[in-house]
Amino acid sequence: MIDEKKKFQEVLNVGLEVIQTRDIDILLERILTKARYLTNADAGSIYIKDESKLLFRYTQNETLQKLLPPGKKLIYSTFTVPVNNQSIAGYVANTGQVVNIENVYDLTDSVPFSFDPSYDRLSGYRTQSVLCFPLKTNTDEVVGVLQLINAKNGHGNIVPFLPEDEPFVVHFANNAAIAIERATMTRDIILRMIKMAELRDPMETGAHVNRVSSYSVELYEAWARLKRINEAEIEQNRDVLKMAAMLHDVGKVAITDLILKKPARLNSSEYEIMKRHTYLGARLFSHQRSDFDRAAFLVTLNHHERWDGHGYPGFVDYATGEPLPGYKSNDGNAPGKQLEEIPVFGRVVAICDVFDALSSGRSYKEAWDEERVLETMAAEKGKHFDPEMLDIFFSNLEIVRNIMQLYPEMKG
Ligand code: C2E
Ligand code: SIN
Ligand code: SIN
Ligand code: SIN
Ligand code: FE
Ligand code: FE
Repeated sequence: MIDEKKKFQEVLNVGLEVIQTRDIDILLERILTKARYLTNADAGSIYIKDESKLLFRYTQNETLQKLLPPGKKLIYSTFTVPVNNQSIAGYVANTGQVVNIENVYDLTDSVPFSFDPSYDRLSGYRTQSVLCFPLKTNTDEVVGVLQLINAKNGHGNIVPFLPEDEPFVVHFANNAAIAIERATMTRDIILRMIKMAELRDPMETGAHVNRVSSYSVELYEAWARLKRINEAEIEQNRDVLKMAAMLHDVGKVAITDLILKKPARLNSSEYEIMKRHTYLGARLFSHQRSDFDRAAFLVTLNHHERWDGHGYPGFVDYATGEPLPGYKSNDGNAPGKQLEEIPVFGRVVAICDVFDALSSGRSYKEAWDEERVLETMAAEKGKHFDPEMLDIFFSNLEIVRNIMQLYPEMKG
């Protein structure tokens, strides 16, 4: 439990880390964590409004989380709820009102909405008190709904949400809504950059980049925890890596469609041209004004390096693609980076990109089933991939599968 003065300060800041978060997925996670902390809620979910629907985007549940092995994440699925008065979240989005319910199983006819117990039935969780409020911007536009579940008192017993908390929550919700609006814009800019690059069917591209970046954040986090990197650095890196990993192939903007969309294997001269997408992408971020630029630079340049040193582009000058001074090997090319010479972000995205490339169809190949993908990747342990990092990836496959299902291939 936190005292009133602290609560007031927290609400005023929304927590600096929330305001500074730019990636939308990570922002939602932080908003929910903060809101639960302010109200001492056991669980909660965030819905994002998309025209006449609410999309269930993110959830936390401390009770269910405690049943999982340490470090494992809660698996959930997305669904939509219509914006109308039938459900609690739908009602809140529709009317813009805050709803504070003592016990959802005791709703009477005096309210238009009803509680859907199917999630409780599936999860074995028992929802009781609910505080559900709209995320409204300064122009009163509802961008989403935050639903907090099961407030707890100091003894851990479930109690109703305090009516005194509602003004806090409304103020918090307004700041959160503005941050969501801004993060959505950043995401849209990045997706538009990718679409502009005309890599291929925009639907497929969006799903691929969302998956690769989501896997990358999970892998980085698991790796960084093991390496005992401090929490603040992990959080900062998660945010910038999320956006940077989405842009890993943005350098393909400079590769001709004749090669990029070739419905067959590339020949060796075509492949040499394709390899340029690494440093061509890095050039876009070479001014390195922000942490995001630095991360995007590392990812674009290093995502095709190999642990054994046989990757590309190696020690090149990103401006020219030529070997760096003192790095020319006998064949005139630059030697590949190897082992820890490859930046962490490059090693992370390498694993996640290949996993997704093998698991999905391409213009030149069919999708593989998971068994074949894992076998192929395991054979590359210590060759293509950092062996320790690959083990960490393999021990987090459940969350990887969950991400696949959150961003399915949308083929027409
Ligand atoms: P991508 O499709 O995103 O593939 C990323 C990486 O996944 C590849 O990097 C490679 O390491 C791995 N990968 C993808 N497909 C396969 C596969 O069938 N077998 C195996 N063992 N590994 C696979 P790589 O090879 O450096 O390729 C970089 C990019 O070049 C690819 O990105 C893709 O856009 C393009 N590319 C590579 N080979 C071909 C090809 O034969 N035809 C066409 N049209 N494009 C290709
Ligand atoms: C972007 O919108 O490109 C990411 C934000 C940034 O430049 O830092
Ligand atoms: C990071 O900030 O973790 C990436 C840079 C590196 O790999 O050294
Ligand atoms: C990709 O990076 O999305 C794959 C490129 C392709 O083969 O079309
Ligand atoms: Fe690539
Ligand atoms: Fe890719």
